Amino acid sequence: MSKSKSQPAVSRRAARDSFQRRVLNWFRAQGRKNFPWQQNPTPYRVWLAEIMLQQTQANTVIPYYQRFAARFPDIKALAAAPLDEVLRLWAGLGYYARARNLHQCARIVREQHGGEFPRAIEELQALPGIGRSTAGAIRSTAFGLPAAVLDGNIKRVLARHRAIPGWPGKAAVARELWAAAEALAPAKHCAEYTQAMMDLGATICAPVNPACGSCPVAKDCRARAAGKQADYPGRKPRRALPVKATTMLIARNRAGGIYLERRPPRGIWGGLWSLPEIPAPAHADDWCRTRFGRAPRRRELQPLLRHTFSHYHLDIQPLCLEVDVGGDGIRDGVMESRPGLWYNFAELEMIGMAAPVSKLLSRFACNPPNPPNPPNPPYKSVPPCPAPSSAANTKPRKRAWNAPPTPALRGRRSSAKSPKTHGRNGRRSRPC
Ligand code: ADE
Repeated sequence: MSKSKSQPAVSRRAARDSFQRRVLNWFRAQGRKNFPWQQNPTPYRVWLAEIMLQQTQANTVIPYYQRFAARFPDIKALAAAPLDEVLRLWAGLGYYARARNLHQCARIVREQHGGEFPRAIEELQALPGIGRSTAGAIRSTAFGLPAAVLDGNIKRVLARHRAIPGWPGKAAVARELWAAAEALAPAKHCAEYTQAMMDLGATICAPVNPACGSCPVAKDCRARAAGKQADYPGRKPRRALPVKATTMLIARNRAGGIYLERRPPRGIWGGLWSLPEIPAPAHADDWCRTRFGRAPRRRELQPLLRHTFSHYHLDIQPLCLEVDVGGDGIRDGVMESRPGLWYNFAELEMIGMAAPVSKLLSRFACNPPNPPNPPNPPYKSVPPCPAPSSAANTKPRKRAWNAPPTPALRGRRSSAKSPKTHGRNGRRSRPC
């Protein structure tokens, strides 16, 4: 039996009341009260913030939240918007399933709840993208009703305060943490308490070097008493991330358009526009013939880009292709026969793209491949291009392969989450 269960009920209640009182007093003096979602905290605004704040730090979320709330001020506006626009405003926040769920949730709330968020935890949890902790955060912060919340920061506070061992991803550990969160949640001042616990975890009970000297609950923190703050919460058992590989094609037509395909709605980068993928560069000619009825006029490998997901690394080999097809003619009527569209650089600003795709295209815009003249030597692993048969292959065209991009993408900041994407800039590209 855990130590707190073995305490008499009276002293458990006294300990709980004291914990709540200290946390609330600390919040009133030190808590964060100026986040945009704390101003005019309607259920819609609170929900929007909580979804954005899942897996993303508050300071990163702020500008996205402000743009989103300005464009979609209420549930009606969001439910009426096309998914594409939602994804575009989301691009860069990552975890795009959140954006798709957000949009779907808005439509369900409009259609099944008369445009009002429900208050019951079970009803909130039945909505897409809302788990147990987010449901508690919405109920307590938006409606001021009692609810337990257990986000990553609160897990750390409770694991340390009660010395709950083990990795919170394990069901038994999560159960114990939830029991602690339920036992401590107050019946009054629910919104303040929830924010207080989040703030305590974010600002005082930090993962490394916690500021225990400023913590309102340090005096009965078991991890601190044992000098073992760093042991809580327990770490996830480590395993090396597997590496997957793909080749992404930056296919450019005579008009300078870039060929993009929309990804299927489910799976990684679901619903976003992306560069076409093939298993390896040697498949490029076949791909090009299938899509456009001809092999590329020129190919050029670009430096590898590693993108890291939570469960694997993806090594992306970019391959630039110059395809001898027009822009407008191909684009008209392309929808039925091909899964993609040609975009010019100015249009790329306006569509939702996966972070590494955005990064590759920015890199491409800033550093287009070498001009075709003088001729490039063949690259070993890619079959050589057919011998040039016209003057067009040796003279740069009017709108050349290496023409400077339109200003729209130049200097565009990649929406890649920088710590997770490791480019190997500076390596020379390999022509073929
Ligand atoms: N993380 C999740 N919800 C939050 C909130 N309301 N404020 C700050 N960080 C959060």
